[in-house]
Amino acid sequence: ESQTEVRKGLAGVVADYTAVSKVNPETNSLLYRGYPVQELAASCSMEQVALLLWTGELPTEEELAEFTARERAHRALTPELKAIVDALPTTCHPMDVCRTAASVLGAQDPEAEDSSPEANLRKAQKLFAAMPAVVCYDQRRRRGQEPVAPREDLGYSANFLWMAFGEEADPAVVEAFNVSMILYAEHSFNASTFTARVVTSTLSDLHSAVTAAIGALKGPLHGGANEAVMETFEELGIRADESPADAEARAKAWMEEALAAKKKIMGFGHRVYKHGDSRVPTMKAALDRMIDHYGRPELLGLYNGLEKAMGEAKDIKPNLDYPAGPTYWLMGFDIPTFTPLFVAARITGWTAHVMEQVAANSLIRPLSEYNGPDERHVPGA
Ligand code: CMC
Repeated sequence: ESQTEVRKGLAGVVADYTAVSKVNPETNSLLYRGYPVQELAASCSMEQVALLLWTGELPTEEELAEFTARERAHRALTPELKAIVDALPTTCHPMDVCRTAASVLGAQDPEAEDSSPEANLRKAQKLFAAMPAVVCYDQRRRRGQEPVAPREDLGYSANFLWMAFGEEADPAVVEAFNVSMILYAEHSFNASTFTARVVTSTLSDLHSAVTAAIGALKGPLHGGANEAVMETFEELGIRADESPADAEARAKAWMEEALAAKKKIMGFGHRVYKHGDSRVPTMKAALDRMIDHYGRPELLGLYNGLEKAMGEAKDIKPNLDYPAGPTYWLMGFDIPTFTPLFVAARITGWTAHVMEQVAANSLIRPLSEYNGPDERHVPGA
């Protein structure tokens, strides 16, 4: 019998140092470069948080203005990229479009093979600038709508909503969207970020790392959960005329049945947080504002019913995807676009980790414990 300790899922394994963010499950806290994420969400733009994650410091006004001008100049998609997106069937998941677009943006970038800190920062910023247009272009193409060109007079979040829907969003909606982007931006060594670091550790390029990370984020145990949450709500049925109390009772009954059938409920539970996800209260407050803004209190009934029944039965708390899903639905995004929205935000965290990995690289190559057949021989060999 081997004495080797195998840590399935790398649970509890500390794989490296990082100065990008700190998750403290004991206190349910999350810091980006030392700043509580709640404070960033309350007082910063996504552009400021992106610069913080990349450079380690909140930008000065001058630095922010310089970045903002470049970000706005790199939002539009090239005709070649649009043609490649158009060539993909609308039956594919929008995450496949994001993954393909990240790869194409790498192939188109003259600095693709330059992994110097300066080139990596420029490439990260260009990817950050272009991905919202990819997401919106694809959603509109699937809806049979004409694409909407980016607007250089709008900030990141306002322009994102403009390109998605072709009308200027209410400031309250822009604010809630900005909060969601900031909360989704970074979360230490989650599966997709670790994927990006593994790819980077072979001295591959930044776009390869991001392309692989998008693949990892797609799964329902990770980013795909925000879509799965909304599918649960739709399975339950969202009834505009239902009282919040009736909706809550129906949701509770649904959850009790699902748990009795041993179903895994998306949007609940977390590998690291066991007493609740630090990001949920801030996102839930944004969801509450959107429920008021759009006048859909029955959604709150469904939300509370599922959460309460899960809490009573298993003491498992919601994660960020739980309030984010219905928030994006209220804003008018199609459900399969929810995880691509997560991609647009997490590009900042992924690329900050890519740069950190390059700066202090060691090939990531763990061991495995063999449990196949004993040595045997090919007949006649
Ligand atoms: N629904 C029902 N039971 C659950 C859930 C859930 N969502 N999450 C955990 N459990 C139960 C699980 O069945 C197990 O019970 P038992 O010990 O009786 O077998 C126990 O809790 C421990 O669960 P686990 O799956 O072994 O724990 P983990 O640390 O591997 O899981 C997780 C973390 C996120 C994969 C899991 O909670 C899960 O699958 N949740 C649903 C998917 C989801 O919402 N993912 C989003 C994660 S956070 C944000 C993001 O990355 O997007």
